[in-house]
Amino acid sequence: MTAELSPIDRAKYAAARRSVDFVEDGMKLGLGTGSTAAFMVRALAERVKAEGLKLTCVATSSRTADLARELGLTVVGLDEVRWLDLTIDGADEFDPNLNLIKGGGAALLQEKIVATASDRMIVIADAAKAVAQLGAFPLPVEVVPFGWQTTKALIEETLYSLDVLNRDVALRLDQGKPLRTDEGHYILDLDLRRIGNPRQLALVLNQIPGVVENGLFVDICDIVVVGNGDGKVTVR
Ligand code: 5RP
Repeated sequence: MTAELSPIDRAKYAAARRSVDFVEDGMKLGLGTGSTAAFMVRALAERVKAEGLKLTCVATSSRTADLARELGLTVVGLDEVRWLDLTIDGADEFDPNLNLIKGGGAALLQEKIVATASDRMIVIADAAKAVAQLGAFPLPVEVVPFGWQTTKALIEETLYSLDVLNRDVALRLDQGKPLRTDEGHYILDLDLRRIGNPRQLALVLNQIPGVVENGLFVDICDIVVVGNGDGKVTVR
């Protein structure tokens, strides 16, 4: 299968396959969202079939829930289990402290709730997602549609007060219309180039009325499984 994949997908596939080695029989497992997470869900379903593992899964998006059910995995709502042993998810960027930017796939709200409800979070990523400092990838912020332009202006004001030099804020569109998340919210993408203090920014953004959640995951991820185009994997 890997021969047909592009180098970047080979890297994602390699990380995804390695990550399912961390799964043990009987676990309650959070399933992430995105292309790397989709490789993981497929690898997980193969293991479940081959080894008869009994797992209870909670998905971080309707897309992932559909895929997991289609492949025969047991998917329940988070409220049915409350707490999870492990979540495996992708990321848009990770720094040397394993802080993340997530939300490129617009699922950051459920992803953060599920990861926070888990004893451990493993991120799976291709090597290009490793950065010295977060911020080259625009930071997704989920906002309530009501008054979103006011929320956007408040975010811009907040960024100015934090001396953030680059602060382009754009509403994410899908076929010309505002993209709606699974919860019906909008996404604002904050092009900041570099984020000096991810913890401070995450806290400050979430205090703005209209902001539901931001895509900075600080002190949530425990392990990053990094895949390379040649199929080699490192665990950080
Ligand atoms: C979705 C996410 C994804 O995990 C992130 O965008 C990475 O996606 P991919 O694995 O497709 O590169 O945060 O909200």
